[in-house]
Amino acid sequence: MKRLWKTFISLVSSGYISLACQESLPSKTSSTSFTQKHLGEIPHELWPSLEPKLLSANWLEQRHTAWNLQAWLFARKANAFGSNLPDWQKWYDVNELRLLFRDLYQGLGKDGRAARQAFSAEAMAQRFLRAFELKNEQQTPRLTHILLNETAARELIEHYADWEQCFRSQDCQNLKFPKGAAFLKSAWRRSSQDYTIPAFPTDPSAFLAQLAAPEWQAEGSIRPDPQKIYRISTESGVAFHLVGLHLMVKLSEDWFWTTLWLGQEASQDFAADAPQHNELPYYRMCSIYGFESPLQASTAIADELAIAPVAKVLQSLSDAHWCSNPFLEHGANNHKTQCIGCHQWAGSFLSQADIAERLQNDLPSLLTRQSQQGPSDFVWSLLRGSQPLFLAIMESIDYFDAYDPLESLAD
Ligand code: HEC
Repeated sequence: MKRLWKTFISLVSSGYISLACQESLPSKTSSTSFTQKHLGEIPHELWPSLEPKLLSANWLEQRHTAWNLQAWLFARKANAFGSNLPDWQKWYDVNELRLLFRDLYQGLGKDGRAARQAFSAEAMAQRFLRAFELKNEQQTPRLTHILLNETAARELIEHYADWEQCFRSQDCQNLKFPKGAAFLKSAWRRSSQDYTIPAFPTDPSAFLAQLAAPEWQAEGSIRPDPQKIYRISTESGVAFHLVGLHLMVKLSEDWFWTTLWLGQEASQDFAADAPQHNELPYYRMCSIYGFESPLQASTAIADELAIAPVAKVLQSLSDAHWCSNPFLEHGANNHKTQCIGCHQWAGSFLSQADIAERLQNDLPSLLTRQSQQGPSDFVWSLLRGSQPLFLAIMESIDYFDAYDPLESLAD
C-alpha cells in the first residue's frame, strides 16, 4: 500500500495524472502510410550484409557493415522529417515511451487493463503516427543518453503483459526483441571557452600501452572543431560534442554491436578503413558479433590494407575479440572488454557494484559466454540506469492497478 501511495504521489508531482486526463487518441489516422514511417528502421539494402554468417566469418566484412550502419545512422533525412537532424536524434527516449504506453493503456478501459488486453493494431498505429508527427516538427537535437528505435519501442508496448510478467517473476522465457530492434547510448562533452576534449590514443603502440594500463588513459587533447566533430547546439545556445556512440541492432537471433569514439586525427588506426564518403572521419570504430571473433591469429590480412596495423595488433593479443569505447566504458579493466560478454548479464541480479567487482576480480565472466544469462535479451537499461525503460511502462500499470478498483467502488 505504501508503495502505491509513493507511486501516486510521484505521478501527481510529475503532472502525470492531470495529463492522463486531458490527452486522448488522435482523431486523424493514416495507418497505411504509417508503416513506411518507422523511426530508425534498418534500410532494406543493409539487410543482406547483416547476415549472421558473414559477420561471424569475416572480420573485414563485419567492419565494412558496421561502417555502413554508422553512415545510415548519421544520414540526414531532410525529406522524411523536414529538418536536418540525423534520424537517430529522433528515436524514442524513456519519456516518450512512458507517454505512448500510458495513452494506449488508458484507452483499454478498466476491464481491458485488468485483463491485460492487447492493444488493437489501429490504436497502436494512431498513437505511433501521432508520435511520428510530433517528431516531424522536432528541430532541436537532444542529448539523451539512451534511445531506442520504433521496432524496440513497439515490442515493449505491444508485449507489455509478457514483459510485466518477466519483470515481476523473472519468467522471461521466449521474450526476445524482434529483428531490426535497436538501442543507442551516447556520450557528449560540453563546449566552453578554451575547452578541450581528452584524447585516448589507439594507434597500434598506444593501443598496446592502453591495454597494459589499469583502465583507459587520456593522453593529449582534442580541440573541438565543428568540422570534425558531430556537434549540437541546444536551444539555450550551448554546444555539445558527441564523443562516443554505442549502437546495438538485433539480427535474427543475436545483436550486432558497434561503437564510435572520437580520436585526434582523421582516418587513423581504428578509422583507417572508414568509407571515403565518411562524414565523420575523426571517429574510430569497432564492432562485435557473437562470442567468437572472426579475427584469429591465423586470419590472413593483406599488408596493403589500411586497417592491417590494427588487425595485426589485435591478432597479437591472446584474444582478438575486443571492442571498447574510452568515453563510455569507464573504470578498471573495462577497456579490456567487448560488448556481448557484459550485456549477456542484462536484467540479472548483478548491480553496478557487482559488475565493477567482476571487472576487477573475475574478468573472464564478462568476456566469455556463460551458461546462466540475464533475462532481458541483452538490454541493460530496461530495468537499470537513471531512467529504466521498462519501469516507465510499469508506472502506468501500477498506477491503474491501484486506482481502477477505487473507481469501481465509487460507481
Ligand atoms: C562492463 C559492462 C558493459 C560493457 C563492456 C558494455 N556495456 Fe553497454 N551497457 C552496460 C550497462 C550497465 C548499460 C545500462 C545503461 C547505463 O548504465 O548506461 C549499458 C547500456 C548500453 C546500451 C543501451 C541499451 C542497453 O542495453 O541498456 C547500448 C546500445 C550499449 N550499452 C552498447 C554497448 C556496446 C556497443 C558495447 C561494446 C562496445 C558495450 N555496450 C559494452 C554495460 C556494459
